[in-house]
Amino acid sequence: MWYLGGSVFRARKTHTSTGEVGVLEQRGHWGSRIGFVLAAAGSAIGLGNIWKFPYITGVNGGGAFVMIYLVCIALVGLPVMAAEILLGRSSQSSPVGAMKKLAGPRSAWVSIGWLGVAGSFILLSYYSIVAGWALNYAWLSLTGRLVGLGPEGVEPLFGEVFSSSATNLVSHAVFMALTVAVVLGGVSKGVERWARILMPTLMAMLVALLINSFTLDGFPQALSFVFGIHTESLTAGGVLEALGHSFFTLSLGMGAMITYGSYLRKDDDIVAASITISLLDTLVALTASMVLFPIIFSYGMQPSAGPGLVFISIPIALSQMTGGMLLSILFFLLLVFAALTSSISMLEVVAAYFIDERQWTRNRATLVTGGVIALVGIPSALSGSTALFGADFAAIFGKNWFDTLDYLVSNWVLPLGGLGVAVFTAWRMDEALRHDHFLSGCRMRFFYKSWLWLLKFLVPVAIVFVFLHAIGVI
Ligand code: PHE
Repeated sequence: MWYLGGSVFRARKTHTSTGEVGVLEQRGHWGSRIGFVLAAAGSAIGLGNIWKFPYITGVNGGGAFVMIYLVCIALVGLPVMAAEILLGRSSQSSPVGAMKKLAGPRSAWVSIGWLGVAGSFILLSYYSIVAGWALNYAWLSLTGRLVGLGPEGVEPLFGEVFSSSATNLVSHAVFMALTVAVVLGGVSKGVERWARILMPTLMAMLVALLINSFTLDGFPQALSFVFGIHTESLTAGGVLEALGHSFFTLSLGMGAMITYGSYLRKDDDIVAASITISLLDTLVALTASMVLFPIIFSYGMQPSAGPGLVFISIPIALSQMTGGMLLSILFFLLLVFAALTSSISMLEVVAAYFIDERQWTRNRATLVTGGVIALVGIPSALSGSTALFGADFAAIFGKNWFDTLDYLVSNWVLPLGGLGVAVFTAWRMDEALRHDHFLSGCRMRFFYKSWLWLLKFLVPVAIVFVFLHAIGVI
C-alpha cells in the first residue's frame, strides 16, 4: 500500500555489525503521491522562477529566449529529472549512498553524489542571503515602509538592505532558522507538511497578483514581450543561459531530486511526476513574468534591469500604485515561501547524507549541518558590505565572494552533476534495473526509448556546450 502507517517511522533498536545496540531511524517516506509532487515542485519553484527567470528573460529580450527555455526544459531538464528520481527511488538512498549502491562503493561515480551534497551545501549558504532580502522586503512592506516612496526612496532602501552587514546577517539567520525548523520535522511531518501548506498558498497569491496585472495598461505590451518571438535579441550566450537555467530551476544536478525520489515507493509513476513538476515549475516562471512585466511597462521601467528588476524596479512601481502596499506584501511573501520550499530541499540533501551514511539522528544532522551552512553563509552576507569579501576579494578573483560561489554552482556544479546523472543512467546503470524502475507504476511506457536516447546523446552534448561557453570557447 502506498500510504505508510506511523509504525514504520518509529525509531527502533538495532544491532550493528560490531554487536552494539544502536538506534537506527527508519528512512522517512512521503505520506502521499501528491505530497511528493508538491514537495518536489516546491524545491523546483524558487527564487529561480520568480526572481531570476523574469530578469534573465528581460535581459535577453523576451519571447525567443522564452521559447528556447521551454525547449530546454522539455528535452534536457525533464529527462534528467526523471533520471534523478529514478536513481533515488531505485536505491532508496540519498545521493552518496545511491551511487554507492548503484555503481559500487569504490566507484568514481560516487563523486556525483558528493558533488550533490557539496553543491547543495554551497548553494544554500548564499541562496539564503537573497531569500533574506525577500524576507526583509516582506517585512518592510508589512510595516508600511515601502508605501509612497518613489524612486528616490526605494533605491537607498535597497542600498541599505543589500549593503548593511547587520541587516544581511539577521535576515540570513532568520531564514536559515526557518529552513532548519521545517527539516527537523522529517520527510512527511516537516518537508511534506509545509509543502502542502506553502505551495497552494503560493499559487493563490500568484493568481491574485496576475489578476491585478491583467487590469494594468502595460499588460498587452508584457504579453507580446514574453510570448512574441523577437529573434533579433537572441544570442548564443542567451541560448546557453536558458539551458543552464533549466537545470537550476528544476533543482537538477544537486542531488535534490535523487533525495526526494528516495522517499518514494516503487509503485509511483516517475514519468507522470516529472512532467507534473516541470509543468508546474514552468507555469510559475511564466506567470511570475506576467505578474512583473505589466507593472514594469505600466510604470515606464526597463525590462532589462537585471537582478534589480524584482528588488528595485518593482518596489518603485508598487510604491506608486493604488493598493501597492497589499501587492508588495503579497509579492514578497510569495518570494519568501518559494525560496523556503527550495532551501528546505537543499538542507535535506546535506542532512540526509549524515542520516543515511553516518547514522546520525535527524535532529543532530539537521542542527549541525544547518548551523554550519549558516556560518559558511556569513561571507556571502558580507559580500555587499565589507571589502574583505567584496571589493578586495573581487580584486583578486574578479568577482566578490557571493558572485564567485554563484558562478561556480550555476556554471559548473549543476551542469556537471546533470551530466554525471545522464551519462550514468543511460550508459552505466544496470539495464534491467533501469528498465524495471522506469516502467513500474508508469502509464506512459512509450517514453522509455526516447527518454534513453535524450539522456544518451542530446543531454550530454547540450551540457558540453554549456562548459565550452563557460570557458569562453563559444
Ligand atoms: N530550483 C530552485 C529555484 O528555482 C533552486 C534549487 C536548485 C533548489 C538546486 C534545489 C537544488 O530557485
